[in-house]
Amino acid sequence: MTNLRARVTGVGSFLPEQVVTNDDLAKIVDTSDDWIRERTGIKRRHIAADGQTTVDIGELAARKALDHAGLDASDIDLIIVATTTPDLVFPSSATMIQGRLGITGGAAFDIQAVCSGFIYSLSVADGLIRTGQHRNVLVIGTETMSRIIDWTDRGTCVLFGDGAGAFVLQAEGYAHDAGLDGLIGAYIRSDGSFLDLLRTTGGVSTTQSSGLLTMQGNAVYRHAVTKICEAMTTLMSRHGISSADIDWFVPHQANQRILEGVAKRLGIPRDKVISTVAEHGNTSAASVPLAFDQGVRDGRIKRGDLCLLEALGGGFTWGSALVRF
Ligand code: ACO
Repeated sequence: MTNLRARVTGVGSFLPEQVVTNDDLAKIVDTSDDWIRERTGIKRRHIAADGQTTVDIGELAARKALDHAGLDASDIDLIIVATTTPDLVFPSSATMIQGRLGITGGAAFDIQAVCSGFIYSLSVADGLIRTGQHRNVLVIGTETMSRIIDWTDRGTCVLFGDGAGAFVLQAEGYAHDAGLDGLIGAYIRSDGSFLDLLRTTGGVSTTQSSGLLTMQGNAVYRHAVTKICEAMTTLMSRHGISSADIDWFVPHQANQRILEGVAKRLGIPRDKVISTVAEHGNTSAASVPLAFDQGVRDGRIKRGDLCLLEALGGGFTWGSALVRF
């Protein structure tokens, strides 16, 4: 029997046109450009226009990833969408994007793991490809976090933005001794005891609304670095890889201080870190593919480079993935 693995053959991303700067936010809450830059590294974020939705921007990122892979939408036999901010409670954003792309076969579903959703989706896609169930998979992280932000809370509204990113994963056969290539592996974890540190104030079954995001920022910060480092070192040691082997570290773009703290603890030099957080803030499940796509488009991430991806989000959920691009 042929061994199967997933290869990332296309990447794409999309940021809404509307930009909100730190100075713009200083007009609505008691904050400043200096405070936001110093504590988070964020300079601006993109906010979806009225009527522009998670599915709209996810579709645009998906089309770019398909173009990059040189694949027709009709070749796709699975769509996984990672989102916390779906257009509707049902059907899933994945089936809505499937419909927009004119795909009537295969399967489509959403994954809800907040900021870790894209890593969770890669892990699920990896399993489905390795077991031969799907061959051409679109994995999309797409969010309109602006719709669940409390715009009067300076502790959270300065951190988040809207955006979308996508990977095309394709199955390929490989010989047993072929070495580590493609999507080498993913590692996902969660711990539900941290519910109150990062959550929304409502939901369908409790308040019949989405509620708004609340967070105990410095408690989240303390857990983030430890848990992300654990996820990355576990995954690397599982595959016999060390930090020195990594060409590009592509972290969840939550906060410049978190991603620098993680890189430092793992001994990854700053010039190997893809950081785009300054330009779009925390876009939750979209942030890893957004940063990855930026790294590919500006020529830093090249075919054959070994990339380490990670994220942590509400739940807590967290995880990592290793990709030979
Ligand atoms: N502007 C000005 N002052 C502010 C702002 C703001 N936007 N936000 C909070 N403050 C104030 C607080 O009110 C507090 O004032 P006080 O001392 O008078 O009470 C002071 O700044 C310090 O507040 P802290 O919350 O202790 O500030 P901290 O240095 O921890 O920075 C931050 C806050 C940036 C949120 C940080 O804790 C953080 O990055 N946490 C990680 C959270 C995160 O990234 N979550 C995303 C989801 S999880 C993930 O993706 C990893």
